Amino acid sequence: MSLRKNVFAALYDPMSRKSEDAGLRALRRGLLTEAGGSVLEIGAGTGANLAHYNEVESLVFTEPEPAMLRRLQKKARDEAPLAKILRAPAEDLPFEDDSFDTVVSTLVLCGVDDQARSLREIKRVLRPGGRLLFLEHVRSDEAALARFQDRMNWLNRIVVDCDCNRPTLTTIEATGFSVSQLERTEMPKAPKFVRPLIVGSAVAG
Ligand SMILES: C[S@@+](CC[C@H](N)C(=O)[O-])C[C@H]1O[C@@H](n2cnc3c(N)ncnc32)[C@H](O)[C@@H]1O
Repeated sequence: MSLRKNVFAALYDPMSRKSEDAGLRALRRGLLTEAGGSVLEIGAGTGANLAHYNEVESLVFTEPEPAMLRRLQKKARDEAPLAKILRAPAEDLPFEDDSFDTVVSTLVLCGVDDQARSLREIKRVLRPGGRLLFLEHVRSDEAALARFQDRMNWLNRIVVDCDCNRPTLTTIEATGFSVSQLERTEMPKAPKFVRPLIVGSAVAG
């Protein structure tokens, strides 16, 4: 358990507050109205999405980092007492094939060790026709901003332990998902190199 990961977990909610208040929370809420049936959320962190699930059949959260997991468990005791919480990375999900109707990933695919493998795992555990709901900061489509993101990625990695320049939508499509809804927007109150944001859903074939 590294000190750095403990500090990141402790600072995550205060660091995100301005962004959440300025619109990120509303984006989460809008996305999660689409969640239905049996739902898995990967990399659930401190549980920022917990309050936004309505009328789902079942909820499972995974999170690999112990310091995040503790915060998630504490929050879930009040806000989602029936949810199941497991320690697991997205690259190795401890579920049978075709287990879920919905998988949720918010601000996770930027930081997983192996994005392509994580998406293959998500597709494996989704039933055919099931949906991935995503909200992810990504590489810009504008060449100049993308180059700026490449230059600033070292700083992003130090501060928030993820990449600001991943072409996540391309990887989602390359995994065999069919993107059914897509909003290209901006992460509120974020530095320019973290702003490009995609919010939407993709259907597992
Ligand atoms: C920026 S936080 C986002 C937390 C939460 N999803 C949210 O929307 O606030 C990134 C989360 O991904 C988790 N994470 C890091 N590596 C991961 C992996 N390989 N698989 C799944 N989650 C991972 C981190 O521990 C952290 O909780």
